[in-house]
Amino acid sequence: MAKKTVKRAPTALRKPMPTSEDPEAEIARLSAEISRHDALYYREDAPEISDAEYDALRRRLSQLEDAHPEFKRAESPSATVGAPPVGAFGKIRHEVPMLSLGNAFDDQDVTDFVQRVRRFLNLGEGDPLDVMAEPKIDGLSISIRYENGSLVQAATRGDGAEGENVTANVKTIKEIPHVLEGKAVPEIIDIRGEIYLAHKDFEKLNAAQAASGGKVFANPRNAAAGSLRQLDSSITAKRPLRFFAYAWGAASKLPADTQAGVAAAFGRWGLPINPLVRVSGDPSELLAFYREIESKRAKLGYDIDGVVYKVNRLDYQERLGFVSRSPRWAIAHKFAAERATTVLNKIDIQVCRTGALTPVAKLEPVTVGGVVVSNATLHNEDEIARKDIREGDTVVVQRAGDVIPQVVEVVLDKRPKNSHPFKFPKLCPICGSHAVRESDEDGNAADVVRRCTGGLICAAQVKERLKHFVSRNAFDIEGLGAEKIEFFFDTGRIKSPADIFTLEKRDQISDEPLITLRGFKETSVRKLFAAIDARRNVPLDRFLYALGIRHIGETTAKDLAKAYGTFEALRAAVDAAIGAGKESDAYQDIDNIEGIGETVVDALIDFFGEAHNREQIDALLHEVTVAPFVRTQTKESPVTGKTVVFTGTLTKLTRNEAKAQAERLGAKVSGSVSKKTDYVVAGAEAGSKLDNARALGVTVLDEDGWLALIRGA
Ligand code: IVH
Repeated sequence: MAKKTVKRAPTALRKPMPTSEDPEAEIARLSAEISRHDALYYREDAPEISDAEYDALRRRLSQLEDAHPEFKRAESPSATVGAPPVGAFGKIRHEVPMLSLGNAFDDQDVTDFVQRVRRFLNLGEGDPLDVMAEPKIDGLSISIRYENGSLVQAATRGDGAEGENVTANVKTIKEIPHVLEGKAVPEIIDIRGEIYLAHKDFEKLNAAQAASGGKVFANPRNAAAGSLRQLDSSITAKRPLRFFAYAWGAASKLPADTQAGVAAAFGRWGLPINPLVRVSGDPSELLAFYREIESKRAKLGYDIDGVVYKVNRLDYQERLGFVSRSPRWAIAHKFAAERATTVLNKIDIQVCRTGALTPVAKLEPVTVGGVVVSNATLHNEDEIARKDIREGDTVVVQRAGDVIPQVVEVVLDKRPKNSHPFKFPKLCPICGSHAVRESDEDGNAADVVRRCTGGLICAAQVKERLKHFVSRNAFDIEGLGAEKIEFFFDTGRIKSPADIFTLEKRDQISDEPLITLRGFKETSVRKLFAAIDARRNVPLDRFLYALGIRHIGETTAKDLAKAYGTFEALRAAVDAAIGAGKESDAYQDIDNIEGIGETVVDALIDFFGEAHNREQIDALLHEVTVAPFVRTQTKESPVTGKTVVFTGTLTKLTRNEAKAQAERLGAKVSGSVSKKTDYVVAGAEAGSKLDNARALGVTVLDEDGWLALIRGA
């Protein structure tokens, strides 16, 4: 990527707030945006944004997903890497998936990473934990298979599971040996690494391209990708591509038991490895290495975009395993992104579906990292007060931690004399209802978000709910977008979800049918009614998601659908829990569902407890049929579908490890023992849970018993 000088700000200023006034909408928007950029980057080699900006999007998404797992989408880009292969080349399925790396953006993130690893491995203070650090190469990753030392196949990352067969092209790269020489070369090994172009070769290539009227590449990474993905490998052969080996996929045997040891063996076998490495057990030494690399960055002669830290011991790597799309044993410490200064003209207050009043900064347009920015998020009332952001201020904006750029700080020297602190409205700007901050039991302002109390009388909220109802992952009604909803609402045609499905009938007897209105034609109206009719049968998970119950996003909706199968069963379960109290079986039964916690149970109870919500649902159920949830069969293990409780001190596994392993095998891990528990795995000094298990006659296993049960799964 074209690297620009970057200025770093103190950590406290750079850390974005994980809050969002409408996290669900932001997650949806981010997911769509990331997928689009994935396609541009991986398939078309034509990114529109810088890597740092892209990372910012992903980072914001994972922050929001962590804070609001209920809104995490089933097909979230955070669970995938890259984009599916394009098709001109043959496809190769990676025997071991090619994953990505989690990101660290500051020193704290790095020390957190080390702490996390230590905790997971249950290491004592005196136990050493060596980490290997090396530059993160900004090229494209590749997996090269050697069998009995000979290069037999090479594949791009693709979507992580399946890449493109670029064997012929990779064979033209001089730095990549066709035969591995030396000792301990395994029978089979997939070497993973990065193909890149050196700066000087990139400049030469672009000059030649320009002279011949060919494609001029935006940066070395794109040039490398474009060169590798030539269908004619004689063209690739003319491009001086280079390679660094830094990891591996499938391997019949490894030449060492540490990351650094394996890398050294790669070197002996004739593979290029990066000489800039440091192995240390001291996080401050790793950070010093990061700064050293950062200072050398411009002179390296090739693009890097950070430093990668990897736990050195391979047995530790094995135990740490993976979470979602990245290994727990490695992290990328990225170099910082760009900022710019501009004038904040006005602070706008928008009202979301949940009634949240969202402040948005209207900026004098400014270019940040190659993108023109005119809006920035201000997060919430407290954030504005904390930074004392005022209309008319000159502010620093940054795209690092946010898709929607952030206002980082005010340039006080440039503050106009007549400026005054921003007064956050206490009334909803749309319906005039009181806007309040939910407080905790002590009356402290617990929620950073101020919400309009207008509910269904607030036009903004109702409109946003209707828009959500028809949106792509909900009812997905084609031709009924945000604009139409606004129009139908404002003209009194659609005030509630059920109205959507009675629209046609009412239109037939209306004095002013749609076709008589401007902007509507007979065919478009017919299509709209057909699109509405096509959704009269809706899968349970979509239906639940569409209702827009707080804290119930796509993933949670699926979890509930899976657990209850039908809407009637879910409704009966919630009805039983209304007013029954947290300790009741009815409440606990919902709470015990995998993926569901008290926040969701409370939200369900609140929602179904409201008469007007029940009325709206009943009216809707007159119009639509909710299809029961259909389970897809996954591979069975001895503990699939079983509920397991771990208690006491385990010796061979940490509690987290045991939990992650059990979940991977399809078991539900619960914190409390009940009649429904299948196994209690009791370590040393197990207490009341073990007693409960015995009293209830639940099968009790010791650690070895558990390991024996899941062996081979
Ligand atoms: S280790 C499981 N080391 O960065 C992944 N990756 O953003 C282990 N990358 O997919 C990867 N330089 O393509 C590793 N020295 C390095 C790297 C590196 C660049 C790439 C790699 C990875 C991506 C993650």
